[in-house]
Amino acid sequence: MDKRDYPAIVILTGAGISRESGLETFRDADGIWSKVRIEDVATPKAFARDPEGVHEFYNARRAGLTAGNIVPNAAHVALARLEAEWPGEILVVTQNIDDLHERAGSRNLLHMHGELLKVRCGLCGDLADWTGDLGVGVRCPDCGEAGALRPHVVWFGEMPLEMERIYENLERCGLFVSIGTSGNVYPAAGFVAHVKQAGGQTGRAHTAELNLEPSEGASHFDETRYGPATKVVPEYVGKILSGGWGT
Ligand code: APR
Repeated sequence: MDKRDYPAIVILTGAGISRESGLETFRDADGIWSKVRIEDVATPKAFARDPEGVHEFYNARRAGLTAGNIVPNAAHVALARLEAEWPGEILVVTQNIDDLHERAGSRNLLHMHGELLKVRCGLCGDLADWTGDLGVGVRCPDCGEAGALRPHVVWFGEMPLEMERIYENLERCGLFVSIGTSGNVYPAAGFVAHVKQAGGQTGRAHTAELNLEPSEGASHFDETRYGPATKVVPEYVGKILSGGWGT
């Protein structure tokens, strides 16, 4: 069989896939939004009103991610294995801003909500890798201006990244798998419906949800498997690679 005989796969991931690596989710009982308000740290208005407060929020998350004890888990590794062994196309679209998919070995990867370890200059648009703290006095490494650097993270009210490429892949895929997301935030929460409307290259793409518990969009999926990502994702990858998916 050649590449075209293997359906293209699109995988959507959310905070749940990184939970067992030690990173908090957003909407679980102990999640990030139970401790801090979205309006205070994750909107352009918040940044305009209190840039240092927003920098503090992301500095703490950046320090947490780079502390050394946060590593990819078996679910991230299983997706990297799938990319290495699947003869067809595969794309991981993550809502997460951590770098655990990269560190696990995923290459065909899009961060639709940006990346915690990158910063962007509001003046010259320069993107730079950044693992340390950010503050209003920090100068842009490219244009040298201070006060315009922000986390390269998509805030509420802003347009997620690479949407054209994402929809193009959703419309062509034969298998769509959603992992570790509550299905609360659009446009990602609408991807499963988009896949089903488009039908995928097989005329009807198969859709699966792998999560700790049913998401808001659970009823849209052909197949659902519930449990911790480090259990259900490696199992499902094994099923895909042994040709058993879709049954
Ligand atoms: N294994 C699998 N799933 C898990 C695990 C686990 N160990 N732990 C939690 N989950 C599930 C939860 O049941 C929940 O459905 O992960 C999901 C996490 O949901 P959210 O906290 O809402 O995170 P997410 O869906 O990624 O949020 C989407 O919202 O706040 C914005 O930009 C932020 O990218 C984020 C977006």
